[in-house]
Amino acid sequence: MGKDKRHLKDSQSFDLENKHKRHPKVKQAIELDGSKEALKKFYADWASDYDDDTSGLKYTACETSYGLFTSLTGSYFLKFDINDKLIRIMDVGCGTGLMGKTLYRNGYRNIDGCDLSYEMTREAEKLNIYNKLTANININKPINPDWANTFDCSFSVGVFTPGHVEPRALNQMIDLTKPGGLIIISTRIAYYETTDYQHVSDQLEHENIIKLLKVDRNQPYTDDSPAHYWAYAVL
Ligand SMILES: C[S@@+](CC[C@H](N)C(=O)[O-])C[C@H]1O[C@@H](n2cnc3c(N)ncnc32)[C@H](O)[C@@H]1O
Repeated sequence: MGKDKRHLKDSQSFDLENKHKRHPKVKQAIELDGSKEALKKFYADWASDYDDDTSGLKYTACETSYGLFTSLTGSYFLKFDINDKLIRIMDVGCGTGLMGKTLYRNGYRNIDGCDLSYEMTREAEKLNIYNKLTANININKPINPDWANTFDCSFSVGVFTPGHVEPRALNQMIDLTKPGGLIIISTRIAYYETTDYQHVSDQLEHENIIKLLKVDRNQPYTDDSPAHYWAYAVL
C-alpha cells in the first residue's frame, strides 16, 4: 500500500473510532446542507458559545495553520517576506477570530477578515485585532472585484469542511491573493474524503495557476478528527 493510501486508511479509522467523541455542535455543523441560509442560522446560534465549545474540543487548527505558514519562510515562490508583520492578510471564514488571534499574538498587524455570518464577525470585532471585517461574504461565489489580487496571504481555516464550502471556493481564495502570495487551507478529513478537493487542487496546479508548496496530512485539528493542511503559492 502506498504511503498516502496508508495515511488515508489511518485517518478514516481515526474518524470512525472517534465519532462518539464528537461534540453535538460539530456533528450538526458537518451535517449542514451547504445552503447559505442553513449556515447563517447555525452560526448565528453558535456565535456566542463558539470559542468555549471549540476550546473544549481541542481545536488546534489555527496553531497548526500558523506552523505551516511560518515553515514557508524563504520559499522561492513567495514574493513577500513571511516575517514582515505588516503583510496584508485575509482570514476567510474568520468566524469569531481565532486565526486572527493567533496571527496577532505573533505580531501580525494588517489582518482583514470576512465571513458569511454576521454574528460570528461581531464576535471577532470585539477582539479589536482586524483592520476590517466584512460579513455576508459567500466564498462559494465570485469575490468583490475590489478585493482581487489584494492579499499577500489568505487563510481559510475550519471552513473547507462538510456542509460548508465547495472545493471550487479555492478559486476565490486565489482571486483574493496577489501573484507570489500564499494560501493556507485546512480540510477536515471527512471533507477531503467526500469531495473532489484533490481533483480541484490538482487541476489548478496543472493549469499553472497555483503551486502546492506543502501539504501536511493528518495533522491535529479537533479531538474527533485530524485534517490536512495545504499551502499554495499563487503563480
Ligand atoms: C468552523 S467555523 C471556523 C471559523 C474560524 N476560521 C476558526 O478557525 O475558528 C466556519 C466558519 O465558516 C463560515 N462560513 C461557512 N460557509 C461560508 C461561506 N460559504 N463563505 C464564507 N464563510 C463561510 C461560517 O460562518 C463560520 O464562521
